Amino acid sequence: MTYNFDEIINRKGTFSTQWDYIQDRFGVSDLLPFSISDTDFRMPYEVQEAIAKFNELGIYGYTRWNHDTFKKAICGHFERRMGTVLNPDEIVYSPSVLYTISILLRELATKQKSVLAFSPMYDSFYMVVEENNLQLIESSLVERDGHFEIDFADLEEKMQQADVFLLCSPQNPTGRLWTYEELEQIVKLCKKFQVALISDEIHMDVNLTKRRHLPILTFYTQYQNMYLISSASKTFNTPGLIGSYAIIPDETMRERFFTIQKRRDFLNSASTLGMLATVTAYNESQKYIDELIPYIDQNLSYVEKFIQEKIPEFKYRKAEATYLAWIDCREMPWSMDELQEAFVKIGKIGVMSGKIYGNERYLRMNCGASLSKIRTGLDAMLKSVSYLREQ
Ligand SMILES: Cc1ncc(COP(=O)(O)O)c(C=O)c1O
Repeated sequence: MTYNFDEIINRKGTFSTQWDYIQDRFGVSDLLPFSISDTDFRMPYEVQEAIAKFNELGIYGYTRWNHDTFKKAICGHFERRMGTVLNPDEIVYSPSVLYTISILLRELATKQKSVLAFSPMYDSFYMVVEENNLQLIESSLVERDGHFEIDFADLEEKMQQADVFLLCSPQNPTGRLWTYEELEQIVKLCKKFQVALISDEIHMDVNLTKRRHLPILTFYTQYQNMYLISSASKTFNTPGLIGSYAIIPDETMRERFFTIQKRRDFLNSASTLGMLATVTAYNESQKYIDELIPYIDQNLSYVEKFIQEKIPEFKYRKAEATYLAWIDCREMPWSMDELQEAFVKIGKIGVMSGKIYGNERYLRMNCGASLSKIRTGLDAMLKSVSYLREQ
């Protein structure tokens, strides 16, 4: 292994949302966190070196992102890993994935003012729809043996009331990696009802299957009103450096996006370090992904086995993608509040209740960490559950 994902790194005192501000989510501060989705891993050393070199200069003036270096790195990454050829002219920089989603929703959800998405869903999807004064329509995924499937009849019915379908591909929190057939069917329905399709593909690199992740633009010839949004930040653990990108094939919308960024929101500069991290990681750190995938796979397999053997009150089937474990607690004899209280007081762990993602009988455990942390977390879970069993 070139990269050491086993290393325990003390992240406290780094203004880390996950580690330093855990009290905001769980009420106390001395917890081992498995909460918001950044990893505990160091970013690739190639990126560290590129940033260290840049920092030697000590100049952080205004910058531009609209150049070949940035765009070619993204094109190269999509071609190498996904076999997808992007048009570099359609790439735009954005400070964050949700910033882009927020703008696109405002621009696209104008007729019925409503947005359709699968539930459970990434919690910021609820917020971005609500805070833009749009109506959210949810199509619930159907669970079968820990595998989440699309209810296409329900989706079709709800498409008729929506302006935009907001897809998460692969899906947070269920970890589904959508198949060709599923994506094609979604695209067909969007086309049938003239619903714009926004695909958030930030988790695309952590693909634990042998299938390829299929960027939504694979289906561009079938339907053109689609937008792909992604970032290197999840894979390489760089969200604090700021930076993401989108592919906006429609020229008018792209121009509108530029205008909003520059003349309404005055984002006059790209984050230099975020841009440098994206370019370096995509050009030089492909091996990091190759090593990250089996590491996450091992972590999630460990979670699956542990739960199966030791916590029969829960159910978990290993995800197809992402480093998030979506754990089914529907059959436990306790309320989520009781479980959370035991986690905090007995286990001293912070694991997200599924409530904010749309199902409070689930847990979302961030497994983007060393196996030893995952082990400690699961032991603490078992200790908490054992305590509840005895009550
Ligand atoms: C599906 C999904 N989209 C977007 C984000 C956040 O991206 P950004 O910080 O670039 O808005 C996350 C982070 O957890 C996520 O899981």
